[in-house]
Amino acid sequence: MNWNYWIRHFHRWLSIVFTATVIANFVAMGLGEPPGWVVYSPLLPLFLLLFTGLYMFVLPYATKWVSARSVSGKA
Ligand code: HEM
Repeated sequence: MNWNYWIRHFHRWLSIVFTATVIANFVAMGLGEPPGWVVYSPLLPLFLLLFTGLYMFVLPYATKWVSARSVSGKA
Protein backbone atom coordinates (compact mmCIF):
# COMPACT_ATOMS: atom_id res chain seq x y z
CA MET A 1 0.00 0.00 0.00
CA ASN A 2 1.34 3.44 -0.94
CA TRP A 3 0.64 5.64 2.09
CA ASN A 4 1.72 8.87 0.39
CA TYR A 5 -0.79 8.29 -2.40
CA TRP A 6 -3.66 7.62 0.04
CA ILE A 7 -2.81 10.57 2.28
CA ARG A 8 -2.80 12.90 -0.77
CA HIS A 9 -6.16 11.53 -1.92
CA PHE A 10 -7.60 11.74 1.58
CA HIS A 11 -6.42 15.39 1.76
CA ARG A 12 -7.98 16.13 -1.64
CA TRP A 13 -11.40 14.69 -0.66
CA LEU A 14 -11.27 16.29 2.77
CA SER A 15 -10.86 19.64 1.06
CA ILE A 16 -14.22 19.04 -0.68
CA VAL A 17 -15.89 18.03 2.62
CA PHE A 18 -14.40 21.11 4.31
CA THR A 19 -15.60 23.41 1.50
CA ALA A 20 -19.11 21.89 1.68
CA THR A 21 -19.31 22.54 5.44
CA VAL A 22 -18.20 26.17 4.96
CA ILE A 23 -20.86 26.67 2.24
CA ALA A 24 -23.44 25.02 4.56
CA ASN A 25 -22.53 27.64 7.17
CA PHE A 26 -23.19 30.52 4.76
CA VAL A 27 -26.51 28.96 3.69
CA ALA A 28 -27.55 28.32 7.32
CA MET A 29 -26.63 31.92 8.28
CA GLY A 30 -28.81 33.18 5.44
CA LEU A 31 -31.74 31.27 6.97
CA GLY A 32 -31.21 32.69 10.48
CA GLU A 33 -29.19 31.61 13.52
CA PRO A 34 -27.30 28.41 12.51
CA PRO A 35 -27.32 25.46 14.96
CA GLY A 36 -24.07 24.75 16.81
CA TRP A 37 -23.31 21.51 14.95
CA VAL A 38 -23.39 23.40 11.62
CA VAL A 39 -21.13 26.18 12.97
CA TYR A 40 -18.53 23.70 14.24
CA SER A 41 -18.81 21.14 11.40
CA PRO A 42 -15.79 22.55 9.41
CA LEU A 43 -13.47 21.96 12.37
CA LEU A 44 -13.09 18.16 12.06
CA PRO A 45 -12.20 18.19 8.30
CA LEU A 46 -9.93 21.23 8.88
CA PHE A 47 -8.17 19.41 11.72
CA LEU A 48 -7.63 16.32 9.50
CA LEU A 49 -6.50 18.60 6.62
CA LEU A 50 -3.92 20.15 8.92
CA PHE A 51 -2.32 16.79 9.83
CA THR A 52 -2.45 15.26 6.34
CA GLY A 53 -1.17 18.61 4.92
CA LEU A 54 1.71 18.80 7.39
CA TYR A 55 2.59 15.17 6.54
CA MET A 56 2.75 16.06 2.82
CA PHE A 57 4.74 19.21 3.59
CA VAL A 58 7.40 17.35 5.58
CA LEU A 59 7.59 14.35 3.21
CA PRO A 60 10.09 15.75 0.61
CA TYR A 61 12.43 16.97 3.38
CA ALA A 62 12.15 13.64 5.24
CA THR A 63 12.92 11.72 2.02
CA LYS A 64 16.04 13.85 1.38
CA TRP A 65 17.12 13.48 5.00
CA VAL A 66 16.77 9.66 4.94
CA SER A 67 18.56 9.27 1.56
CA ALA A 68 21.42 11.58 2.70
CA ARG A 69 21.85 9.39 5.78
CA SER A 70 21.95 6.18 3.75
CA VAL A 71 24.50 7.66 1.24
CA SER A 72 26.77 8.69 4.11
CA GLY A 73 26.46 5.16 5.55
CA LYS A 74 24.84 6.29 8.80
CA ALA A 75 21.49 4.52 8.20
C1 HEM B 1 -4.90 23.09 7.32
C2 HEM B 1 -3.68 23.16 6.86
C3 HEM B 1 -3.24 22.64 5.50
C4 HEM B 1 -1.98 22.27 5.22
C5 HEM B 1 -0.78 22.28 6.19
C6 HEM B 1 -1.95 21.85 3.84
C7 HEM B 1 -0.83 21.42 3.15
C8 HEM B 1 -0.81 20.90 1.89
C9 HEM B 1 0.36 20.37 1.21
C10 HEM B 1 1.78 20.35 1.79
C11 HEM B 1 -0.04 19.95 0.01
C12 HEM B 1 0.87 19.27 -1.06
C13 HEM B 1 1.44 20.32 -1.98
C14 HEM B 1 2.37 19.62 -2.98
O1 HEM B 1 1.87 19.12 -3.99
O2 HEM B 1 3.56 19.56 -2.71
C15 HEM B 1 -1.45 20.19 -0.13
C16 HEM B 1 -2.21 19.88 -1.24
C17 HEM B 1 -3.52 20.20 -1.37
N1 HEM B 1 -4.31 20.86 -0.46
FE1 HEM B 1 -3.79 21.34 1.43
N2 HEM B 1 -3.21 21.97 3.30
C18 HEM B 1 -4.04 22.45 4.27
C19 HEM B 1 -5.37 22.76 4.15
C20 HEM B 1 -6.08 22.66 2.97
C21 HEM B 1 -7.41 23.19 2.76
C22 HEM B 1 -8.22 23.98 3.82
C23 HEM B 1 -7.76 22.88 1.49
C24 HEM B 1 -9.01 23.20 0.71
C25 HEM B 1 -10.19 23.44 1.25
C26 HEM B 1 -6.65 22.14 0.89
C27 HEM B 1 -6.63 21.61 -0.39
C28 HEM B 1 -5.57 20.99 -0.97
C29 HEM B 1 -5.61 20.34 -2.28
C30 HEM B 1 -6.84 20.23 -3.20
C31 HEM B 1 -4.33 19.85 -2.52
C32 HEM B 1 -3.86 19.09 -3.75
C33 HEM B 1 -4.01 17.58 -3.45
C34 HEM B 1 -3.57 16.73 -4.63
O3 HEM B 1 -2.45 16.91 -5.13
O4 HEM B 1 -4.33 15.87 -5.01
N3 HEM B 1 -5.65 22.03 1.82
N4 HEM B 1 -1.90 20.79 1.04
